[in-house]
Amino acid sequence: MDNILEIKDLVVRYETEDGLVKAVNSVNLALKQGASVGLVGETGAGKTTLAKSVMRLIQWPPGRIISGEILFEGKDLVSLTQEQMYNIRGKEISMIFQDPMTALNPVMTVGKQIAEVIGVHEAHLDEEGTKKKMEEMLQMVGIDPQRAEEYPHQFSGGMKQRVVIAIALACNPKLLIADEPTTALDVTIQAQVLELIRNLRDKLGTSLLLITHDLGVVAQNCEYVAIMYAGEIVEYGELRDVFHRGAHPYTKGLFDSIPKLTEKVDRLRPIEGMMPDPANLPEGCKFHPRCQYATPECGQVQPPEVDLGGGHIVRCMRYSGGKPIQSGE
Ligand SMILES: Nc1ncnc2c1ncn2[C@@H]1O[C@H](COP(=O)(O)OP(=O)(O)OP(=O)(O)O)[C@@H](O)[C@H]1O
Ligand SMILES: [Mg+2]
Repeated sequence: MDNILEIKDLVVRYETEDGLVKAVNSVNLALKQGASVGLVGETGAGKTTLAKSVMRLIQWPPGRIISGEILFEGKDLVSLTQEQMYNIRGKEISMIFQDPMTALNPVMTVGKQIAEVIGVHEAHLDEEGTKKKMEEMLQMVGIDPQRAEEYPHQFSGGMKQRVVIAIALACNPKLLIADEPTTALDVTIQAQVLELIRNLRDKLGTSLLLITHDLGVVAQNCEYVAIMYAGEIVEYGELRDVFHRGAHPYTKGLFDSIPKLTEKVDRLRPIEGMMPDPANLPEGCKFHPRCQYATPECGQVQPPEVDLGGGHIVRCMRYSGGKPIQSGE
């Protein structure tokens, strides 16, 4: 199996009192076995919704997967029952959330929390075996196993996120989804945690979907990058293609807005104007109101996905048949 994850035409919405929030709109995304994909986009682009959909953690009400497929090793997760999903979540696919505290139980020792996950998914291990594995996990994320008896509040933010990573990797999942795993941490700790994820990925061969608004983090950690805008993937491809030959006007804007990839940005707000409210999306290309190249057609037609070669995909009317249209510049 070449692709561990294949998302096809996924549509996810929230039905709120204020209207229908079109959070994920016909997303296609494939992740090769063992590869890492960086998912980048402004706040509200739909990154977390997409990730939670893969985990089948979209809660109704107000959220719902309306249509599409999420193929994990060829099996459609959308059609599974929550019971069937229970065997996949945490074991085959794990997710690390932005804020480590929400993932940890404040009244349970960290050792017990790791052991619990191991106990659920590795039933063949006895108490002694589970404890040994738990200690190995702590060691692997750089925490002294002697601290297993401590509670989350006794750990610093970076240490807590290490515990969360230990829990996420305790069952050696095939796919790890990390949703801004370092945003809540200070800069030096961020680098350490990312290095840890990188090293563990190399060691364990885990496929990675890394959500971030930091292009520098993508450059250091990912082989592929997906640019998300208003619930759509507007560009996808190998890191070097998207970074050096970014084709979508939005992608270009993102890169032009940061002088150096190593520079820190808090939130992506690179281009004049704002991302549209997903409860009130424009017709045609969702980016056209902000786009310097927009033509009247862009306000009417949803751009198709065009492969510029080698799986470098862009959704923009300026590209037709794989070639940029030069007119109007
Ligand atoms: N439970 C919910 N109920 C209603 N709307 C929601 C809910 N969760 C998310 N949304 C909306 O869906 C859209 C996408 O949100 P999402 O959290 O997926 O974006 P994101 O790209 O992860 O943003 P951020 O970078 O801020 O984390 C936003 O407009 C958001 O307000
Ligand atoms: Mg998010």
